[in-house]
Amino acid sequence: MKVREAWLESRKILKCNGVQDYSIEAEVLLRHVLGIDRVKFFQSLNSDISSNTKISFYDMIHRRSSREPLAYIIGSREFYGLDFIVNPHVLIPRQETELLVEEVLNFLSLHSLKNPLIADIGTGSGSIAISIAKNYEGATIFATDKSIDALKVANLNRHKHAVSDRVKLLHGNLLSPLSQKVDVIVSNPPYIASNIIGNLEPEVQNEPREALDGGYSGVDYINELISTSTCILKSNGMIAIEINYDHSEKSKKLCHEYFPKAEISVIEDLTQTPRMVRIVLAKRLQ
Ligand SMILES: C[S@@+](CC[C@H](N)C(=O)[O-])C[C@H]1O[C@@H](n2cnc3c(N)ncnc32)[C@H](O)[C@@H]1O
Repeated sequence: MKVREAWLESRKILKCNGVQDYSIEAEVLLRHVLGIDRVKFFQSLNSDISSNTKISFYDMIHRRSSREPLAYIIGSREFYGLDFIVNPHVLIPRQETELLVEEVLNFLSLHSLKNPLIADIGTGSGSIAISIAKNYEGATIFATDKSIDALKVANLNRHKHAVSDRVKLLHGNLLSPLSQKVDVIVSNPPYIASNIIGNLEPEVQNEPREALDGGYSGVDYINELISTSTCILKSNGMIAIEINYDHSEKSKKLCHEYFPKAEISVIEDLTQTPRMVRIVLAKRLQ
């Protein structure tokens, strides 16, 4: 069988099974089993594929047809320009979450913080913590999660990106593993309302329930995070939390309640969807 035939046939299979981006996904899976980049792929369309490669490839196409996420099948996902190991114990990092990293890096640079301490709550694969560490040399990040299996993935990623000395992994509930005050709290907590999860795309339902389920109305974790962060945040620190698009009013109200003197804003992503609530405490003296 030629590469071209495998590609065309697998595109049809994925399309029939409701995979929206069937063409690019068939290509990515085929390149993954062949171990080649895009340029080489298009140069190889008339080459034969070995029977072993064909078996591995169709096994992956079968998994993807049953709507297992592409990232779990190939075992990785790009986030903030870095490649992260992922498996079904962690949420697949989303592009929109890069906004949190951007905001934290802006805050650190704006205030020229030399050795800031940052807490990434619910770190999952470690994508936020590691991206900050890679892009801000002096930063130390405490990356917490209540899932031991997720922390094992974060551990692989911090070694892969050579930041294990500055990304400290802590096991436990939200802020409770932290033993010292921090300059920044960043978090992408579970925020989907429990009763909505069953209606989401099959791919999302393959992701860990504890990474998605934000309780009855989706704001349980945000409530707990904000209400407990007052004693762990330095007096001139900042908090950046990802929110669901329809949680902006509730989140703002809560932030004003616990941080009445802070500058509080809801920030939209590139699609103009409310994506993040930001709390900046008293302005730092330069
Ligand atoms: C939405 S995922 C975010 C993962 C990662 N930060 C990202 O943005 O890709 C939420 C993470 O919070 C963790 N989590 C859920 N409840 C938690 C809790 N009570 N304390 C700490 N972590 C929790 C989950 O295990 C999961 O890894």
